[in-house]
Amino acid sequence: MKTLKLGIIGAGFIAKFQAQAIAQIREIDITGVVSLESAQEFSQYVYDLGIGPCTVYENIRKMAQNVDAIAIFTPNFTRVAIVEEIVAAIKNGAALKGIICDKPLARNMAEARKILKLVDEVDVRTAYFENQVFMKLIRAQMQQLAPQQKSMGPLMLTRSSEEHGGPHMPWFWDPTKQGGGVLSDMGCHSIAVGWYTLTPPDKPLTFLQPVSVSCDCALLKWGQPKWREKLLQDFGVDYSKTPAEDFVTGMVTFKNPETGQLVKAQFTNSWMFEKQGLRLFMDGMGPGYAFEVNTLNSSLQVFIGDAAADAVADAEIALEKSTASRGLLAVQQNEADLYGYTDENKDAALAFLAGRDGFLSWEYGLEITKLIMAAYMADEKKQTIDLTDPEVQTELETYIPLIQQGRGAEILF
Ligand SMILES: NC(=O)c1ccc[n+]([C@@H]2O[C@H](COP(=O)([O-])OP(=O)(O)OC[C@H]3O[C@@H](n4cnc5c(N)ncnc54)[C@H](O)[C@@H]3O)[C@@H](O)[C@H]2O)c1
Repeated sequence: MKTLKLGIIGAGFIAKFQAQAIAQIREIDITGVVSLESAQEFSQYVYDLGIGPCTVYENIRKMAQNVDAIAIFTPNFTRVAIVEEIVAAIKNGAALKGIICDKPLARNMAEARKILKLVDEVDVRTAYFENQVFMKLIRAQMQQLAPQQKSMGPLMLTRSSEEHGGPHMPWFWDPTKQGGGVLSDMGCHSIAVGWYTLTPPDKPLTFLQPVSVSCDCALLKWGQPKWREKLLQDFGVDYSKTPAEDFVTGMVTFKNPETGQLVKAQFTNSWMFEKQGLRLFMDGMGPGYAFEVNTLNSSLQVFIGDAAADAVADAEIALEKSTASRGLLAVQQNEADLYGYTDENKDAALAFLAGRDGFLSWEYGLEITKLIMAAYMADEKKQTIDLTDPEVQTELETYIPLIQQGRGAEILF
């Protein structure tokens, strides 16, 4: 069997998480890394996982000469410059089969179009990493309910949420760097998985046509003086000046082009979630059947009483973004697999080795970017955005949300 030699750009949180996922599949070795920080430490981490050896390269051009594919795991504001460098390396002779980009594809439509245009200039395949579409729990409910979808008709409503207490690095909190707040950061997950689960099993990814988007963004916790101060102290980000939303909820309505039926995907995301740690919650209603996923329900729970709580070394080993270290705690022992990272890597490797785009290409990532932009626009205009209107489609192409411009104070307070 052929193995994909993967070079990674960025050696932070997601790079390590993805390495844990790759250690669970046979199709990828991580053979290179380029990163502003922590490259050496990441190389050792990969070696210890047994999926290296991973060479630290001083730049993308050199790494591109020595790997089969490259994964972009750097902050959102670096996307365009990094894709420019990768494409330049390919033009200079690097024989790359594919490029992976983790969510979100870009901060806005102009950036998304720019990176798509860049990869169009060369012969390379793409994979957009939206892990939730690959979650085994999501795939299992689809398989389990396929007969009901067929006999009773498709799902009519999905509700998807990803919530935690707030990101781990300053750039995530800065709306000008990240692209916004929690809608840009995690709304992309929930909108994508909602769309995917609504789609009848035998139909292509974008079969259901998005026709309208409504949305409400709010700053419920981190705009309060006490929490604003904490943000400033911990991350150097001042939410009195450049705030971003820490809560969002909205609805995307889709039309089935064959039957005309309208179905809805509700999304809810927050950075002010006060439970044990990260929770992904999804449910779906079909006529006479339903599914529900809640990643805070684990078959493994531990109890840590007050008397023993001081001994807890690292609560985040139990759960991503853990906020508690005592009481009855859920433990997910394989989050990399639970959240879909293993299967998205396997899909990209098999696709690139066969000369195909991943199941989710960058064109698909652009469609998600468009829905995120429509959601910000709906919140700003306080109206439902009609995606069937050609003028709205044109407006979305150059639209930069006020929050992303650093002008969130005009609408969030
Ligand atoms: N799929 C998911 O669930 C998920 C989860 C977390 C992050 N992400 C995405 O992954 C990306 C990275 O997030 P993260 O949490 O790992 O961030 P991070 O800040 O923890 O790590 C970023 C890494 O990139 C490096 N870096 C920064 N700029 C660079 C540059 N110009 N060239 C090379 N290296 C550079 C940093 O040194 C760091 O090692 C983001 O786009 C984020 O949205 C996805």
